[in-house]
Amino acid sequence: MEIDIVSIFPEIITGFLGHSLLGKAIDKKALGVNLRNLRDYTGGRHRVVDDVPFGGGPGMVLKPGPLMKAVDSLKRDGSLVILLTPQGTLLSQDVLKRHSSKEHIIMLCGRYEGVDERVAETRVDEEISIGDYVLSGGEVAACVYIDSLARLIPGVVGDGESVTGDSFYGSLLKHPQYTRPADYEGLAVPAVLLSGNHADIARWRRERSLERTFRKRPDLLEKAELSREDRSFLQTLGHRSKEVN
Ligand code: ADE
Repeated sequence: MEIDIVSIFPEIITGFLGHSLLGKAIDKKALGVNLRNLRDYTGGRHRVVDDVPFGGGPGMVLKPGPLMKAVDSLKRDGSLVILLTPQGTLLSQDVLKRHSSKEHIIMLCGRYEGVDERVAETRVDEEISIGDYVLSGGEVAACVYIDSLARLIPGVVGDGESVTGDSFYGSLLKHPQYTRPADYEGLAVPAVLLSGNHADIARWRRERSLERTFRKRPDLLEKAELSREDRSFLQTLGHRSKEVN
């Protein structure tokens, strides 16, 4: 997979890409990331990327020309063009799963008071938001997106297990984890985890995962893939699933 990120502050993203998992993925060539400075697509000597909003109001709006030129020069057959904006579809593991099969993604980072609407109308396939709050620009959102997407690209996370066991992977939260020492300040690790019995450990983890999801994010259970065993365990916690009742 290759990702082109178009931004007026590419240096915000540079340091982030060097960090462990992403840096390794890039070194292994499982993922290619190119940072593109929007000012390189302005054409003029002054490299102007923004202007005042028509109709008045505070702040500056990113001009349509440079963003459209950037997309036109980077786009290939099958590219997915994303605009990071608080107006977009909320990023979720489902969205990431869908995007993880793409070969090429172009990400446009918004800034200031917005992006000229004609960019979204003519060049963007999907508008994505990372949450219901406003960042000063799309760069941090791009980092969040790439970090979570990279985990789903084959070869990026060494052991396939660590992805399938992630929170949200089957629409469930991850079970609790423990490491040495087995007893810390009198707080003992659950005995089953020290038992060496893999079937018991797997069952314990599944139940903790179900229990946690039921207590903290019951909304996720609606779309989780649940076995009969899972459903009867959830019933013991007081969960009423549609299929059972
Ligand atoms: N740009 C500003 N706020 C954002 C958000 N919440 N998600 C994505 N891009 C943004």
